[in-house]
Amino acid sequence: MAEGSVAETKETLAGVGYLADEPAALVSFLAQRLEKPVLVEGPAGVGKTELAKALSRATGRELIRLQCYEGLDEAKAMYEWNYRKQLLRIQAGGDQGGWGEVQDDIFAADFLLERPLMQAIVSPEPVVLLIDEIDKTDQEFEAMLLEVLSDFQISIPELGRVESKTHPVVLLTSNNSRELTEALKRRCLYLWLDYPELEHELEIVRLHSPDLPETVARKLVEIIGMVRALDLKKPPSIAESIDWARALLLLGAQDIDSDTFRDTMSIIVKHRTDLDVVAERVGVKLGLAEGTLGAPST
Ligand SMILES: Nc1ncnc2c1ncn2[C@@H]1O[C@H](COP(=O)(O)OP(=O)(O)OP(=O)(O)O)[C@@H](O)[C@H]1O
Ligand SMILES: [Mg+2]
Repeated sequence: MAEGSVAETKETLAGVGYLADEPAALVSFLAQRLEKPVLVEGPAGVGKTELAKALSRATGRELIRLQCYEGLDEAKAMYEWNYRKQLLRIQAGGDQGGWGEVQDDIFAADFLLERPLMQAIVSPEPVVLLIDEIDKTDQEFEAMLLEVLSDFQISIPELGRVESKTHPVVLLTSNNSRELTEALKRRCLYLWLDYPELEHELEIVRLHSPDLPETVARKLVEIIGMVRALDLKKPPSIAESIDWARALLLLGAQDIDSDTFRDTMSIIVKHRTDLDVVAERVGVKLGLAEGTLGAPST
């Protein structure tokens, strides 16, 4: 997929079920051509993680995923020494060489446990590396990542430098729960993924639920847009639009009237206080619209 143009990248991604907008297609194209990591930021559920998965499918590259969390350290992200195996080797002893030989032995690649970053660097086939939710880690972890991101290499004190031969495509995602360091941002291309435009979201919903009647799908994304415009704790994401569409399809809904909306709105709104706001502002609006439509014309 690396060959070709932005338009081609967009098409290939669509072919594997990801409808990228222009900026996402452009950055995906450049990431492969410039061999630079991409930092993808945006609210929850807008397709950040999915973009990495789609790139893996589109390029036929294996996806290696590092899921970040608070307290994640080098040993879990890069590599650690296999202490148990080292111990066994020590216990087995050396033939004549003594300790020196044993020491050389136990700090060889054989005794290394490769974690996702190391796996991506040493992989003989080019891979897609997803570093998911980097904002959950701390700044020290970010600092540690810099070497991997700018030079595609990892330095192991006992072994030396391990360099990547096949340059992974690297995607980092962040929900913006904290500001990332300038040093990290400088090394990355940047993509801000936001809630999509109405027509774009309609396409995504229809891709995931092709059997949902067009009118229902359109009304769904219109309502989702209305709900997002309210000041909610957690606005509905694309993930929720897709779930809602699936539910409506299962329920055989031919329209989203105020009753259907009331019964199913907990699929898209998941906070007690948000539910109240949405029921009042959107539910009532739908009810009023029906009232006007159904009212006898005098
Ligand atoms: N452009 C798109 N084309 C097709 N499907 C999409 C697109 N964007 C999002 N989706 C779908 O939306 C859902 C949510 O996407 P994803 O899990 O990637 O969100 P996220 O941004 O990583 O969210 P979080 O921040 O919560 O991890 C997925 O099921 C994905 O398939
Ligand atoms: Mg995600």
